[in-house]
Amino acid sequence: MQTITTTPFTDQKPGTSGLRKRTVVFAQEHYLENFVQSLFDVVGELRGGTLVLGGDGRFHNDVAIATIIRMAAANGVARVLVGQHGILSTPAVSHLIRHHGATGGIVLSASHNPGGPEGDFGIKYNVGNGGPAPTSVTDAIFERSKVIDSYKTAEGDVPLTELGEQSVGDMMVCVIDPVADYAALMESLFDFDAIRNWLGTHAMVFDAMHAVTGPYAREIFGRRLGAGEGALMNCDPSPDFGGGHPDPNPVYASALFDRMFGEDAPDFGAASDGDGDRNIVLGRGVYVSPSDSLAVIAANAHLVPAYRDGIAGVARSMPTSRAADVVAAALGVPAFETPTGWKYFGNLLDAGRITVCGEESAGTSSDHVREKDGLWAILMWLNILAARGLTVTEVLHDHWATYGRHYYSRHDYEEVDANAARSVMATLEGQLADLPGRESHGERISAADSFTYHDPVDGSVAQNQGLRVMFDSGARFVMRLSGTGTSGATLRLYLEAYEPADGDHAQDVQARLSRIAAIADELTALRKTVFRDAPSVVS
Ligand code: G1P
Ligand code: ZN
Repeated sequence: MQTITTTPFTDQKPGTSGLRKRTVVFAQEHYLENFVQSLFDVVGELRGGTLVLGGDGRFHNDVAIATIIRMAAANGVARVLVGQHGILSTPAVSHLIRHHGATGGIVLSASHNPGGPEGDFGIKYNVGNGGPAPTSVTDAIFERSKVIDSYKTAEGDVPLTELGEQSVGDMMVCVIDPVADYAALMESLFDFDAIRNWLGTHAMVFDAMHAVTGPYAREIFGRRLGAGEGALMNCDPSPDFGGGHPDPNPVYASALFDRMFGEDAPDFGAASDGDGDRNIVLGRGVYVSPSDSLAVIAANAHLVPAYRDGIAGVARSMPTSRAADVVAAALGVPAFETPTGWKYFGNLLDAGRITVCGEESAGTSSDHVREKDGLWAILMWLNILAARGLTVTEVLHDHWATYGRHYYSRHDYEEVDANAARSVMATLEGQLADLPGRESHGERISAADSFTYHDPVDGSVAQNQGLRVMFDSGARFVMRLSGTGTSGATLRLYLEAYEPADGDHAQDVQARLSRIAAIADELTALRKTVFRDAPSVVS
Protein backbone atom coordinates (compact mmCIF):
# COMPACT_ATOMS: atom_id res chain seq x y z
CA MET A 1 0.00 0.00 0.00
CA GLN A 2 1.22 3.48 -0.82
CA THR A 3 0.22 6.97 0.26
CA ILE A 4 0.63 9.49 -2.55
CA THR A 5 0.90 13.22 -1.89
CA THR A 6 -1.49 15.39 -3.86
CA THR A 7 -2.90 18.92 -4.03
CA PRO A 8 -6.62 19.74 -4.22
CA PHE A 9 -8.57 20.68 -7.34
CA THR A 10 -11.15 23.38 -6.78
CA ASP A 11 -13.76 22.18 -9.29
CA GLN A 12 -14.86 18.78 -7.99
CA LYS A 13 -18.41 19.76 -7.11
CA PRO A 14 -20.88 17.10 -8.30
CA GLY A 15 -23.81 18.44 -10.37
CA THR A 16 -27.29 17.08 -11.15
CA SER A 17 -25.80 13.64 -11.64
CA GLY A 18 -22.29 13.18 -10.22
CA LEU A 19 -19.02 14.79 -11.27
CA ARG A 20 -18.95 15.27 -15.03
CA LYS A 21 -16.03 16.86 -16.91
CA ARG A 22 -14.16 16.70 -20.18
CA THR A 23 -12.18 13.46 -20.44
CA VAL A 24 -8.94 15.49 -20.53
CA VAL A 25 -9.80 16.94 -17.13
CA PHE A 26 -10.27 13.46 -15.67
CA ALA A 27 -7.07 12.26 -17.32
CA GLN A 28 -4.97 14.82 -15.38
CA GLU A 29 -2.64 13.33 -12.83
CA HIS A 30 -4.43 12.77 -9.47
CA TYR A 31 -7.78 14.18 -10.66
CA LEU A 32 -9.82 10.99 -10.39
CA GLU A 33 -7.77 9.82 -7.42
CA ASN A 34 -8.51 13.00 -5.41
CA PHE A 35 -12.24 12.63 -5.95
CA VAL A 36 -12.27 8.91 -5.17
CA GLN A 37 -10.20 9.40 -1.99
CA SER A 38 -12.57 12.18 -0.92
CA LEU A 39 -15.41 9.70 -1.41
CA PHE A 40 -13.68 7.01 0.70
CA ASP A 41 -12.92 9.61 3.39
CA VAL A 42 -16.54 10.76 3.56
CA VAL A 43 -18.29 7.39 3.23
CA GLY A 44 -16.62 5.59 6.13
CA GLU A 45 -18.85 2.51 5.77
CA LEU A 46 -17.01 1.51 2.62
CA ARG A 47 -14.17 0.29 4.86
CA GLY A 48 -15.07 -3.37 5.38
CA GLY A 49 -17.98 -2.99 2.97
CA THR A 50 -18.96 -4.08 -0.53
CA LEU A 51 -18.66 -1.75 -3.52
CA VAL A 52 -20.36 -2.30 -6.89
CA LEU A 53 -18.28 -0.89 -9.76
CA GLY A 54 -18.85 -0.45 -13.48
CA GLY A 55 -19.39 1.97 -16.29
CA ASP A 56 -20.80 2.51 -19.73
CA GLY A 57 -17.60 1.41 -21.48
CA ARG A 58 -16.63 4.83 -22.73
CA PHE A 59 -13.01 5.84 -23.35
CA HIS A 60 -11.06 5.93 -20.02
CA ASN A 61 -13.53 3.49 -18.36
CA ASP A 62 -10.86 0.76 -18.10
CA VAL A 63 -8.18 3.08 -16.69
CA ALA A 64 -10.57 4.55 -14.13
CA ILE A 65 -11.80 1.13 -13.00
CA ALA A 66 -8.27 -0.19 -12.50
CA THR A 67 -7.42 2.93 -10.46
CA ILE A 68 -10.55 2.63 -8.30
CA ILE A 69 -9.93 -1.08 -7.61
CA ARG A 70 -6.39 -0.34 -6.36
CA MET A 71 -7.63 2.55 -4.22
CA ALA A 72 -10.51 0.49 -2.83
CA ALA A 73 -8.04 -2.18 -1.69
CA ALA A 74 -5.85 0.45 -0.01
CA ASN A 75 -8.89 2.00 1.69
CA GLY A 76 -9.99 -1.26 3.30
CA VAL A 77 -12.98 -2.15 1.10
CA ALA A 78 -13.70 -5.86 1.69
CA ARG A 79 -15.23 -6.76 -1.67
CA VAL A 80 -15.71 -5.19 -5.08
CA LEU A 81 -18.34 -6.50 -7.52
CA VAL A 82 -17.24 -5.32 -10.94
CA GLY A 83 -18.93 -5.94 -14.26
CA GLN A 84 -17.07 -8.08 -16.80
CA HIS A 85 -15.04 -5.81 -19.10
CA GLY A 86 -15.92 -2.99 -16.68
CA ILE A 87 -19.45 -2.81 -18.08
CA LEU A 88 -22.53 -2.09 -15.95
CA SER A 89 -25.53 0.05 -16.80
CA THR A 90 -26.69 2.64 -14.26
CA PRO A 91 -29.93 0.76 -13.45
CA ALA A 92 -28.00 -2.52 -13.19
CA VAL A 93 -25.65 -0.92 -10.63
CA SER A 94 -28.68 0.26 -8.68
CA HIS A 95 -30.16 -3.25 -8.71
CA LEU A 96 -26.85 -4.96 -7.80
CA ILE A 97 -26.35 -2.69 -4.78
CA ARG A 98 -29.82 -3.62 -3.50
CA HIS A 99 -29.64 -7.29 -4.49
CA HIS A 100 -26.27 -7.93 -2.85
CA GLY A 101 -26.76 -5.58 0.11
CA ALA A 102 -23.70 -3.58 -0.97
CA THR A 103 -22.60 -0.43 0.83
CA GLY A 104 -22.71 1.54 -2.39
CA GLY A 105 -21.67 1.68 -6.01
CA ILE A 106 -19.64 3.75 -8.43
CA VAL A 107 -20.83 4.35 -11.98
CA LEU A 108 -18.39 5.71 -14.55
CA SER A 109 -20.32 7.53 -17.23
CA ALA A 110 -21.19 10.90 -18.64
CA SER A 111 -24.61 9.57 -19.59
CA HIS A 112 -25.68 10.76 -23.05
CA ASN A 113 -22.67 13.07 -23.56
CA PRO A 114 -20.18 11.95 -26.23
CA GLY A 115 -17.14 9.95 -25.16
CA GLY A 116 -13.55 9.71 -26.32
CA PRO A 117 -10.44 11.84 -25.69
CA GLU A 118 -12.34 14.92 -26.91
CA GLY A 119 -15.56 13.94 -25.14
CA ASP A 120 -16.80 13.73 -21.58
CA PHE A 121 -16.27 11.44 -18.62
CA GLY A 122 -17.96 11.21 -15.26
CA ILE A 123 -18.17 9.48 -11.91
CA LYS A 124 -21.23 9.06 -9.73
CA TYR A 125 -21.64 7.48 -6.31
CA ASN A 126 -24.80 5.59 -5.36
CA VAL A 127 -25.66 4.77 -1.76
CA GLY A 128 -27.04 1.66 -0.06
CA ASN A 129 -30.61 2.06 -1.30
CA GLY A 130 -29.22 1.89 -4.85
CA GLY A 131 -29.93 5.55 -5.60
CA PRO A 132 -27.70 8.54 -6.33
CA ALA A 133 -25.98 9.94 -3.24
CA PRO A 134 -28.05 12.71 -1.66
CA THR A 135 -26.78 16.27 -1.67
CA SER A 136 -25.56 15.91 1.93
CA VAL A 137 -23.07 13.26 0.75
CA THR A 138 -22.02 14.98 -2.50
CA ASP A 139 -21.51 18.27 -0.63
CA ALA A 140 -19.32 16.53 1.93
CA ILE A 141 -17.24 14.94 -0.84
CA PHE A 142 -16.79 18.34 -2.46
CA GLU A 143 -15.71 19.91 0.85
CA ARG A 144 -13.22 17.10 1.41
CA SER A 145 -11.86 17.46 -2.16
CA LYS A 146 -10.94 21.07 -1.42
CA VAL A 147 -8.48 20.15 1.33
CA ILE A 148 -7.27 16.69 0.39
CA ASP A 149 -3.48 16.28 0.57
CA SER A 150 -2.93 12.58 -0.07
CA TYR A 151 -4.58 9.43 -1.34
CA LYS A 152 -4.07 5.74 -0.74
CA THR A 153 -3.47 3.15 -3.40
CA ALA A 154 -2.19 -0.40 -3.69
CA GLU A 155 -0.33 -2.57 -6.17
CA GLY A 156 -2.25 -4.95 -8.35
CA ASP A 157 -4.13 -5.32 -11.56
CA VAL A 158 -7.19 -7.43 -12.10
CA PRO A 159 -8.06 -8.65 -15.59
CA LEU A 160 -11.77 -8.06 -16.14
CA THR A 161 -12.11 -10.47 -19.02
CA GLU A 162 -13.00 -13.65 -17.10
CA LEU A 163 -15.85 -14.10 -14.61
CA GLY A 164 -14.78 -15.17 -11.12
CA GLU A 165 -13.02 -14.13 -7.94
CA GLN A 166 -9.55 -12.70 -7.54
CA SER A 167 -7.86 -10.73 -4.82
CA VAL A 168 -5.96 -7.49 -4.48
CA GLY A 169 -4.26 -7.57 -1.08
CA ASP A 170 -7.00 -8.43 1.42
CA MET A 171 -9.79 -7.30 -0.89
CA MET A 172 -11.85 -9.70 -2.96
CA VAL A 173 -12.72 -8.69 -6.51
CA CYS A 174 -15.64 -10.56 -8.11
CA VAL A 175 -15.95 -10.09 -11.84
CA ILE A 176 -19.66 -10.60 -12.50
CA ASP A 177 -21.90 -11.01 -15.53
CA PRO A 178 -23.23 -7.46 -16.10
CA VAL A 179 -26.56 -8.68 -17.44
CA ALA A 180 -27.69 -11.80 -15.53
CA ASP A 181 -29.12 -10.32 -12.30
CA TYR A 182 -30.72 -7.41 -14.11
CA ALA A 183 -32.34 -9.61 -16.77
CA ALA A 184 -33.74 -11.86 -14.03
CA LEU A 185 -35.22 -8.80 -12.30
CA MET A 186 -36.92 -7.70 -15.53
CA GLU A 187 -38.32 -11.17 -16.11
CA SER A 188 -39.78 -11.12 -12.58
CA LEU A 189 -41.64 -7.84 -13.18
CA PHE A 190 -43.21 -8.29 -16.62
CA ASP A 191 -45.39 -10.76 -18.47
CA PHE A 192 -42.66 -12.07 -20.77
CA ASP A 193 -45.03 -14.65 -22.31
CA ALA A 194 -47.45 -11.92 -23.41
CA ILE A 195 -44.64 -9.77 -24.80
CA ARG A 196 -43.13 -12.77 -26.62
CA ASN A 197 -46.51 -13.53 -28.21
CA TRP A 198 -46.97 -9.91 -29.21
CA LEU A 199 -43.52 -9.89 -30.79
CA GLY A 200 -44.58 -12.96 -32.77
CA THR A 201 -46.99 -10.79 -34.77
CA HIS A 202 -45.47 -7.29 -34.40
CA ALA A 203 -42.12 -5.77 -35.24
CA MET A 204 -39.93 -3.76 -32.90
CA VAL A 205 -36.58 -2.06 -33.21
CA PHE A 206 -34.27 -1.04 -30.38
CA ASP A 207 -31.25 1.24 -30.81
CA ALA A 208 -28.53 0.80 -28.14
CA MET A 209 -26.49 3.61 -29.74
CA HIS A 210 -23.24 1.61 -29.35
CA ALA A 211 -23.58 2.14 -25.63
CA VAL A 212 -24.05 0.03 -22.54
CA THR A 213 -27.52 -1.43 -23.17
CA GLY A 214 -26.37 -3.50 -26.18
CA PRO A 215 -25.59 -6.69 -24.21
CA TYR A 216 -28.70 -6.22 -22.05
CA ALA A 217 -30.92 -5.82 -25.13
CA ARG A 218 -29.45 -8.94 -26.78
CA GLU A 219 -30.25 -11.00 -23.71
CA ILE A 220 -33.68 -9.54 -22.91
CA PHE A 221 -35.24 -8.62 -26.28
CA GLY A 222 -33.26 -11.13 -28.33
CA ARG A 223 -32.76 -14.29 -26.29
CA ARG A 224 -35.57 -14.11 -23.74
CA LEU A 225 -38.30 -12.39 -25.78
CA GLY A 226 -37.45 -13.73 -29.22
CA ALA A 227 -37.10 -10.44 -31.09
CA GLY A 228 -35.06 -11.18 -34.23
CA GLU A 229 -31.54 -9.81 -34.87
CA GLY A 230 -33.12 -7.22 -37.18
CA ALA A 231 -34.76 -5.70 -34.12
CA LEU A 232 -31.45 -4.76 -32.54
CA MET A 233 -29.48 -1.75 -33.76
CA ASN A 234 -25.98 -0.70 -32.66
CA CYS A 235 -25.78 -3.27 -29.87
CA ASP A 236 -21.97 -3.50 -29.67
CA PRO A 237 -20.71 -1.03 -27.03
CA SER A 238 -17.70 0.97 -28.20
CA PRO A 239 -15.45 3.46 -26.33
CA ASP A 240 -16.52 6.32 -28.60
CA PHE A 241 -20.09 5.11 -29.17
CA GLY A 242 -19.38 4.40 -32.81
CA GLY A 243 -18.34 8.03 -33.24
CA GLY A 244 -21.81 9.28 -32.24
CA HIS A 245 -23.49 10.83 -29.24
CA PRO A 246 -25.31 8.21 -27.16
CA ASP A 247 -28.21 10.63 -26.75
CA PRO A 248 -31.55 9.25 -27.90
CA ASN A 249 -33.00 12.29 -29.61
CA PRO A 250 -34.08 12.96 -33.21
CA VAL A 251 -30.62 14.28 -34.11
CA TYR A 252 -28.37 11.59 -32.68
CA ALA A 253 -30.79 8.68 -33.06
CA SER A 254 -31.77 9.81 -36.55
CA ALA A 255 -31.41 6.30 -38.01
CA LEU A 256 -34.07 5.07 -35.58
CA PHE A 257 -36.35 8.04 -36.23
CA ASP A 258 -35.96 7.56 -39.99
CA ARG A 259 -37.06 3.95 -39.66
CA MET A 260 -40.01 4.77 -37.41
CA PHE A 261 -41.22 7.59 -39.66
CA GLY A 262 -40.39 5.80 -42.93
CA GLU A 263 -42.22 3.35 -45.17
CA ASP A 264 -43.04 0.02 -43.53
CA ALA A 265 -42.04 1.25 -40.11
CA PRO A 266 -42.03 -1.31 -37.29
CA ASP A 267 -44.86 -1.20 -34.72
CA PHE A 268 -42.58 -0.12 -31.91
CA GLY A 269 -39.24 1.66 -31.66
CA ALA A 270 -37.09 2.58 -28.68
CA ALA A 271 -33.60 3.66 -27.70
CA SER A 272 -31.53 4.18 -24.59
CA ASP A 273 -28.55 6.38 -23.77
CA GLY A 274 -24.87 5.92 -22.84
CA ASP A 275 -25.41 4.40 -19.40
CA GLY A 276 -28.85 2.88 -19.97
CA ASP A 277 -30.95 5.01 -17.67
CA ARG A 278 -32.80 7.05 -20.31
CA ASN A 279 -35.33 5.84 -22.85
CA ILE A 280 -37.37 7.05 -25.75
CA VAL A 281 -40.40 5.33 -27.19
CA LEU A 282 -41.83 5.62 -30.70
CA GLY A 283 -44.69 4.09 -32.58
CA ARG A 284 -45.16 3.93 -36.33
CA GLY A 285 -44.89 7.59 -37.33
CA VAL A 286 -45.17 8.89 -33.77
CA TYR A 287 -42.81 9.95 -30.99
CA VAL A 288 -44.00 9.70 -27.39
CA SER A 289 -42.94 12.68 -25.34
CA PRO A 290 -41.29 11.46 -22.11
CA SER A 291 -43.78 13.42 -20.00
CA ASP A 292 -46.63 11.61 -21.76
CA SER A 293 -44.80 8.32 -21.42
CA LEU A 294 -44.73 8.73 -17.62
CA ALA A 295 -48.45 9.50 -17.58
CA VAL A 296 -49.32 6.53 -19.83
CA ILE A 297 -47.17 4.21 -17.71
CA ALA A 298 -48.87 5.42 -14.52
CA ALA A 299 -52.34 5.02 -16.02
CA ASN A 300 -51.67 1.50 -17.34
CA ALA A 301 -49.32 0.09 -14.71
CA HIS A 302 -52.01 -2.24 -13.33
CA LEU A 303 -51.79 -4.22 -16.60
CA VAL A 304 -48.22 -5.27 -15.71
CA PRO A 305 -47.81 -8.16 -13.20
CA ALA A 306 -45.49 -6.30 -10.79
CA TYR A 307 -47.98 -3.43 -10.44
CA ARG A 308 -51.19 -5.46 -10.63
CA ASP A 309 -52.38 -4.12 -7.27
CA GLY A 310 -52.03 -0.51 -8.36
CA ILE A 311 -49.51 2.20 -7.63
CA ALA A 312 -49.02 4.08 -4.36
CA GLY A 313 -48.30 7.44 -5.95
CA VAL A 314 -46.48 9.24 -8.75
CA ALA A 315 -43.64 11.77 -8.73
CA ARG A 316 -42.23 13.91 -11.50
CA SER A 317 -39.46 16.47 -11.63
CA MET A 318 -40.80 20.01 -11.54
CA PRO A 319 -40.20 20.86 -15.23
CA THR A 320 -41.85 17.61 -16.39
CA SER A 321 -45.34 18.22 -17.77
CA ARG A 322 -48.27 17.84 -15.41
CA ALA A 323 -49.80 14.99 -17.43
CA ALA A 324 -48.89 12.51 -14.68
CA ASP A 325 -50.64 14.66 -12.03
CA VAL A 326 -53.93 14.32 -13.89
CA VAL A 327 -53.58 10.53 -13.93
CA ALA A 328 -52.71 10.46 -10.23
CA ALA A 329 -55.80 12.52 -9.41
CA ALA A 330 -57.98 10.14 -11.42
CA LEU A 331 -56.45 7.13 -9.65
CA GLY A 332 -56.85 8.83 -6.28
CA VAL A 333 -53.15 8.57 -5.42
CA PRO A 334 -50.74 11.39 -4.47
CA ALA A 335 -48.59 13.22 -7.03
CA PHE A 336 -45.29 14.79 -5.97
CA GLU A 337 -43.26 17.49 -7.68
CA THR A 338 -39.52 17.24 -7.01
CA PRO A 339 -36.47 19.17 -8.23
CA THR A 340 -34.66 18.01 -11.36
CA GLY A 341 -32.37 15.03 -10.71
CA TRP A 342 -33.12 11.45 -9.79
CA LYS A 343 -31.74 11.73 -6.26
CA TYR A 344 -34.89 13.55 -5.14
CA PHE A 345 -37.11 10.51 -5.81
CA GLY A 346 -35.15 8.26 -3.45
CA ASN A 347 -36.86 9.16 -0.17
CA LEU A 348 -40.36 8.95 -1.67
CA LEU A 349 -39.59 5.51 -3.14
CA ASP A 350 -37.98 4.25 0.08
CA ALA A 351 -40.97 5.45 2.12
CA GLY A 352 -43.42 3.70 -0.22
CA ARG A 353 -45.13 7.00 -1.04
CA ILE A 354 -44.69 6.52 -4.79
CA THR A 355 -44.33 3.58 -7.16
CA VAL A 356 -43.50 5.29 -10.46
CA CYS A 357 -41.62 8.49 -11.22
CA GLY A 358 -40.05 10.27 -14.12
CA GLU A 359 -38.48 13.28 -15.74
CA GLU A 360 -39.11 15.05 -19.02
CA SER A 361 -35.50 14.31 -19.96
CA ALA A 362 -36.35 10.74 -21.04
CA GLY A 363 -36.11 9.17 -17.61
CA THR A 364 -38.78 6.92 -16.12
CA SER A 365 -38.66 4.22 -13.50
CA SER A 366 -40.33 2.59 -10.52
CA ASP A 367 -39.55 1.29 -7.07
CA HIS A 368 -37.78 -1.81 -8.52
CA VAL A 369 -34.50 0.15 -8.46
CA ARG A 370 -33.46 3.65 -7.36
CA GLU A 371 -32.41 4.98 -10.75
CA LYS A 372 -34.18 5.76 -13.94
CA ASP A 373 -34.25 2.66 -16.06
CA GLY A 374 -34.41 2.79 -19.85
CA LEU A 375 -35.06 -0.88 -20.59
CA TRP A 376 -37.67 -1.07 -17.83
CA ALA A 377 -39.66 1.77 -19.40
CA ILE A 378 -39.44 0.12 -22.82
CA LEU A 379 -40.64 -3.18 -21.35
CA MET A 380 -43.51 -1.33 -19.64
CA TRP A 381 -44.64 -0.08 -23.04
CA LEU A 382 -44.28 -3.50 -24.66
CA ASN A 383 -46.25 -5.11 -21.84
CA ILE A 384 -48.97 -2.43 -22.07
CA LEU A 385 -49.22 -2.79 -25.86
CA ALA A 386 -49.44 -6.57 -25.53
CA ALA A 387 -52.10 -6.32 -22.82
CA ARG A 388 -54.24 -3.72 -24.58
CA GLY A 389 -53.87 -4.84 -28.17
CA LEU A 390 -53.62 -1.22 -29.32
CA THR A 391 -50.94 0.58 -31.35
CA VAL A 392 -48.74 3.25 -29.75
CA THR A 393 -50.77 5.93 -31.52
CA GLU A 394 -54.04 4.45 -30.28
CA VAL A 395 -52.76 4.29 -26.71
CA LEU A 396 -51.74 7.97 -26.88
CA HIS A 397 -54.99 9.15 -28.46
CA ASP A 398 -57.01 7.22 -25.93
CA HIS A 399 -54.92 8.73 -23.13
CA TRP A 400 -55.48 12.31 -24.32
CA ALA A 401 -59.19 11.68 -24.83
CA THR A 402 -59.39 10.53 -21.22
CA TYR A 403 -57.09 12.97 -19.40
CA GLY A 404 -56.53 15.81 -21.86
CA ARG A 405 -53.27 16.54 -23.64
CA HIS A 406 -50.32 18.47 -22.19
CA TYR A 407 -48.55 19.90 -25.23
CA TYR A 408 -44.93 20.05 -24.18
CA SER A 409 -41.49 21.00 -25.43
CA ARG A 410 -38.07 21.85 -24.05
CA HIS A 411 -35.89 24.49 -25.69
CA ASP A 412 -32.20 24.31 -24.80
CA TYR A 413 -29.74 27.13 -25.29
CA GLU A 414 -26.49 25.22 -24.98
CA GLU A 415 -23.01 26.45 -24.13
CA VAL A 416 -23.99 30.09 -23.85
CA ASP A 417 -21.95 32.61 -21.90
CA ALA A 418 -22.36 31.82 -18.20
CA ASN A 419 -22.84 35.45 -17.17
CA ALA A 420 -25.48 36.01 -19.84
CA ALA A 421 -27.32 32.90 -18.67
CA ARG A 422 -27.25 34.07 -15.07
CA SER A 423 -28.51 37.46 -16.14
CA VAL A 424 -31.51 35.91 -17.95
CA MET A 425 -32.39 34.04 -14.78
CA ALA A 426 -31.95 37.17 -12.66
CA THR A 427 -34.14 39.23 -15.01
CA LEU A 428 -37.01 36.80 -14.64
CA GLU A 429 -36.47 36.27 -10.93
CA GLY A 430 -36.60 40.01 -10.31
CA GLN A 431 -40.09 40.21 -11.84
CA LEU A 432 -41.70 37.14 -10.26
CA ALA A 433 -43.58 39.02 -7.54
CA ASP A 434 -45.19 41.39 -10.07
CA LEU A 435 -46.21 38.82 -12.66
CA PRO A 436 -49.48 37.38 -11.31
CA GLY A 437 -52.38 39.10 -13.02
CA ARG A 438 -50.36 40.32 -15.98
CA GLU A 439 -51.85 39.65 -19.44
CA SER A 440 -50.04 39.17 -22.71
CA HIS A 441 -50.81 37.37 -26.01
CA GLY A 442 -54.26 36.52 -24.65
CA GLU A 443 -52.83 34.62 -21.67
CA ARG A 444 -53.12 35.74 -18.04
CA ILE A 445 -50.42 34.83 -15.52
CA SER A 446 -51.89 33.17 -12.43
CA ALA A 447 -48.74 32.57 -10.36
CA ALA A 448 -44.95 32.77 -10.57
CA ASP A 449 -42.22 31.59 -8.21
CA SER A 450 -38.77 30.16 -7.72
CA PHE A 451 -39.28 26.49 -6.93
CA THR A 452 -38.38 25.30 -3.44
CA TYR A 453 -38.78 21.64 -2.53
CA HIS A 454 -39.64 20.49 0.96
CA ASP A 455 -38.91 16.79 1.14
CA PRO A 456 -41.97 15.32 2.89
CA VAL A 457 -39.95 12.35 4.15
CA ASP A 458 -36.84 13.81 5.77
CA GLY A 459 -37.81 17.49 5.90
CA SER A 460 -34.81 18.65 3.88
CA VAL A 461 -35.23 21.78 1.78
CA ALA A 462 -33.85 22.44 -1.72
CA GLN A 463 -34.07 26.05 -2.88
CA ASN A 464 -33.61 27.77 -6.26
CA GLN A 465 -34.64 24.75 -8.31
CA GLY A 466 -35.96 26.72 -11.29
CA LEU A 467 -38.34 29.59 -12.07
CA ARG A 468 -42.00 28.79 -12.81
CA VAL A 469 -44.60 30.96 -14.49
CA MET A 470 -48.16 29.58 -14.53
CA PHE A 471 -51.14 30.76 -16.60
CA ASP A 472 -54.91 30.67 -16.07
CA SER A 473 -55.27 28.50 -19.19
CA GLY A 474 -53.30 25.68 -17.55
CA ALA A 475 -50.21 26.60 -19.54
CA ARG A 476 -46.82 27.07 -17.90
CA PHE A 477 -43.21 27.80 -18.59
CA VAL A 478 -40.19 26.96 -16.52
CA MET A 479 -36.66 28.22 -16.81
CA ARG A 480 -33.57 26.73 -15.19
CA LEU A 481 -29.85 26.35 -15.62
CA SER A 482 -28.52 22.89 -16.43
CA GLY A 483 -26.39 21.19 -13.80
CA THR A 484 -24.77 18.62 -16.09
CA GLY A 485 -22.97 20.68 -18.73
CA THR A 486 -19.19 20.57 -18.98
CA SER A 487 -18.53 23.93 -20.66
CA GLY A 488 -20.24 27.34 -20.53
CA ALA A 489 -23.85 27.34 -19.32
CA THR A 490 -26.98 25.72 -20.70
CA LEU A 491 -30.35 27.41 -20.23
CA ARG A 492 -33.43 25.25 -20.42
CA LEU A 493 -36.85 26.67 -21.23
CA TYR A 494 -39.70 24.21 -20.65
CA LEU A 495 -43.05 25.00 -22.31
CA GLU A 496 -46.40 23.45 -21.60
CA ALA A 497 -50.03 24.08 -22.64
CA TYR A 498 -53.09 22.09 -21.64
CA GLU A 499 -55.88 20.97 -23.95
CA PRO A 500 -58.78 19.33 -22.09
CA ALA A 501 -60.08 15.84 -22.84
CA ASP A 502 -62.64 17.11 -25.34
CA GLY A 503 -60.21 19.58 -26.99
CA ASP A 504 -58.11 19.45 -30.16
CA HIS A 505 -55.28 16.97 -29.65
CA ALA A 506 -53.97 17.09 -33.20
CA GLN A 507 -52.21 20.45 -33.21
CA ASP A 508 -48.58 20.97 -34.10
CA VAL A 509 -46.67 21.00 -30.79
CA GLN A 510 -44.43 24.02 -31.47
CA ALA A 511 -47.32 26.00 -32.96
CA ARG A 512 -49.46 25.28 -29.93
CA LEU A 513 -46.66 26.47 -27.64
CA SER A 514 -45.54 29.50 -29.63
CA ARG A 515 -47.59 31.97 -27.55
CA ILE A 516 -46.08 30.80 -24.28
CA ALA A 517 -42.61 30.79 -25.87
CA ALA A 518 -43.11 34.39 -27.02
CA ILE A 519 -44.18 35.48 -23.54
CA ALA A 520 -41.17 33.75 -21.99
CA ASP A 521 -38.82 35.45 -24.42
CA GLU A 522 -40.38 38.86 -23.75
CA LEU A 523 -40.19 38.52 -19.98
CA THR A 524 -36.60 37.30 -19.90
CA ALA A 525 -35.04 38.95 -22.97
CA LEU A 526 -33.62 35.48 -23.42
CA ARG A 527 -32.59 35.39 -27.07
CA LYS A 528 -31.25 38.93 -27.03
CA THR A 529 -29.20 38.35 -23.88
CA VAL A 530 -27.56 35.09 -24.96
CA PHE A 531 -27.15 36.27 -28.58
CA ARG A 532 -29.06 33.36 -30.10
CA ASP A 533 -31.90 33.54 -32.61
CA ALA A 534 -33.17 30.12 -31.73
CA PRO A 535 -32.57 27.30 -29.28
CA SER A 536 -29.71 24.87 -30.01
CA VAL A 537 -31.93 21.87 -29.34
CA VAL A 538 -35.70 21.52 -29.36
CA SER A 539 -37.07 18.35 -27.86
C1 G1P B 1 -30.31 16.70 -17.02
C2 G1P B 1 -31.81 16.52 -17.03
C3 G1P B 1 -32.27 15.91 -15.72
C4 G1P B 1 -31.52 14.61 -15.46
C5 G1P B 1 -30.03 14.84 -15.56
C6 G1P B 1 -29.24 13.54 -15.44
O1 G1P B 1 -29.94 17.58 -15.98
O2 G1P B 1 -32.47 17.74 -17.26
O3 G1P B 1 -33.66 15.69 -15.77
O4 G1P B 1 -31.82 14.10 -14.19
O5 G1P B 1 -29.69 15.45 -16.80
O6 G1P B 1 -29.56 12.63 -16.45
P1 G1P B 1 -29.64 19.14 -16.20
O7 G1P B 1 -28.56 19.23 -17.25
O8 G1P B 1 -30.92 19.73 -16.71
O9 G1P B 1 -29.24 19.64 -14.86
ZN1 ZN C 1 -27.94 8.50 -18.66
